[in-house]
Amino acid sequence: MVSVPATLVEPAPAPERLPRHVAIIMDGNGRWARARGLPRVEGHRRGVEVVRRAVRYAGTRGIEVLTLFSFSSENWSRPEAEIQDLLNLLRFFIRRDLAELKQNGVRVRVIGERASLPEDIRELIALAEAETAENSALQLQVAFNYGARDEIVRAARRIAERVAAGEMRPQDISQDVFKAHLDTGGMPDPDLVIRTSGEKRISNFLLWQAAYAEFVFLPVLWPDFGDPDFEAALREFAGRERRFGGVVGE
Ligand code: IPE
Ligand code: IPE
Ligand code: MG
Repeated sequence: MVSVPATLVEPAPAPERLPRHVAIIMDGNGRWARARGLPRVEGHRRGVEVVRRAVRYAGTRGIEVLTLFSFSSENWSRPEAEIQDLLNLLRFFIRRDLAELKQNGVRVRVIGERASLPEDIRELIALAEAETAENSALQLQVAFNYGARDEIVRAARRIAERVAAGEMRPQDISQDVFKAHLDTGGMPDPDLVIRTSGEKRISNFLLWQAAYAEFVFLPVLWPDFGDPDFEAALREFAGRERRFGGVVGE
């Protein structure tokens, strides 16, 4: 008799124990490449293939929103050649995967500061959003040129402009109003934030939205992240007790 490891026979978490919104800090591409004596871009290329798999897996697990941190507002400090590689990979991803995403009912939305991105990328983003606007199976939020502090400042500026224009009074600014002016306006907050690569930090990701998220830090490098890792994070989440500041079990 071959014994089957318990993890394979344990039932998957009940649907009500699954997160509605999973956000992932996809980290470790450079280290993955370096460990193989490859240029960093090879890690990023492999990372895009893993994005594809993760989107499919999220769909099969009934997750409503998947947010992927792809390029931070601080990543502009990297060497110019790597920045160009990352911009090219976003172009490649949208061109190659848009048809499949559309077909699979995935709605694409890009969060982050857009005005300073190259024009062709802004057009590709607008195309991806428009082409998938009617979809509702899975919402895929790609965080590109995204930094939470920058997002919060831009939201504050938009609100200030509305107040200055007389559309709103300062006393009308509530948490709900503020939230609606973030790039993620209309989306539920992330329930689960996963970070790969072993780093245990938030790196300016979803600072407002992740106020009550559960965090799972995995030692796996992003290019090695597979369905079993995703499932392990979902199980870890399902076993957590969320309290939101309250008291449980009284
Ligand atoms: C994540 O991998 C991708 C981006 C931040 C764009 P990294 O490029 O940060 O890889 P490491 O952290 O150097 O290994
Ligand atoms: C966070 O990773 C940003 C993305 C995954 C896109 P970084 O590699 O930029 O974060 P730090 O510099 O290690 O904090
Ligand atoms: Mg990194």
